[in-house]
Amino acid sequence: MLSKRAVCIQNMQYNQSIFICPICARQVQVEDSGAIVCTNNHSFDIAKQGYINFMTRPVQSMYAKELFEARHEIISSGLYDALQTRLAELAVGVHLLDTGCGEGSHLARITAKRPGAISVGIDIAKEGILAAAKFYPGLMWCVGDLAKSPYKKESFDTIFNILSPANYEEFKRVLKPGGKVIKVVPHEGYLKELRQQAFAHSEKESYSNEETVVRFKESFKQVKAERLTYTLPLTQALVPKLLEMTPMGWHIERKNEIMLNEITVDVLLLSGMME
Ligand SMILES: C[S@@+](CC[C@H](N)C(=O)[O-])C[C@H]1O[C@@H](n2cnc3c(N)ncnc32)[C@H](O)[C@@H]1O
Ligand SMILES: [Zn+2]
Repeated sequence: MLSKRAVCIQNMQYNQSIFICPICARQVQVEDSGAIVCTNNHSFDIAKQGYINFMTRPVQSMYAKELFEARHEIISSGLYDALQTRLAELAVGVHLLDTGCGEGSHLARITAKRPGAISVGIDIAKEGILAAAKFYPGLMWCVGDLAKSPYKKESFDTIFNILSPANYEEFKRVLKPGGKVIKVVPHEGYLKELRQQAFAHSEKESYSNEETVVRFKESFKQVKAERLTYTLPLTQALVPKLLEMTPMGWHIERKNEIMLNEITVDVLLLSGMME
């Protein structure tokens, strides 16, 4: 059986034309050794765990291993299945990019619903990408900053941006003509059972995405917005994971007093095109 690194090298060589050097934006070559070298001789290495580190300087992410493990468990429990199904339906084309992909489950599950898809995930947090490469070796996982992304212009048919910060200039640069950006933002009822118990009567109890929607509409054409809302049962064993998976949970003081038997996903799916 091929090692994770060997699978990643093959995959990267096959899809080499998507990538550029994040330092000088020149073309790169993926060598058999696993080195990715640009025409200016900047070099990046495919790690043994099967991902590529494209960071040009180390950054301290606020997201640690525990957060991604918690997200993985919650996503595996099926809480986001309906969202992933809808995202797979809304996607267009073959080349998919997930920006701020975290531990990779959304992209992996969307990819499974789109046979033939060639999927790339990028996240600034190495811990997220390590988890993604561990669980989903067939996809291409990059540690990188959206502000300096290692992708050639006009490379992707669909860009996902799920519950993560965006960089619209970069999205426009790497989107193919006719390509689509799909951004998922929390809506007012997102995880409301958790917020009601944790932050009763404080402003954190409600959530507004108005500014994000306005900016998205200014940045893209043919913008469509659809709301997806559902409530699913939750086992008490998953409550600590829910508290761990979002920065909101970190600020809750009496964590062991939180009792939940259901949880609501309420999100807005914004999609837009270049023209
Ligand atoms: C709340 S998490 C969401 C992760 C994943 N999309 C999910 O829904 O499980 C936000 C993610 O955005 C990533 N992120 C933040 N700034 C970034 C940047 N400049 N470039 C790439 N990723 C970034 C974080 O590291 C984090 O994994
Ligand atoms: Zn270079």
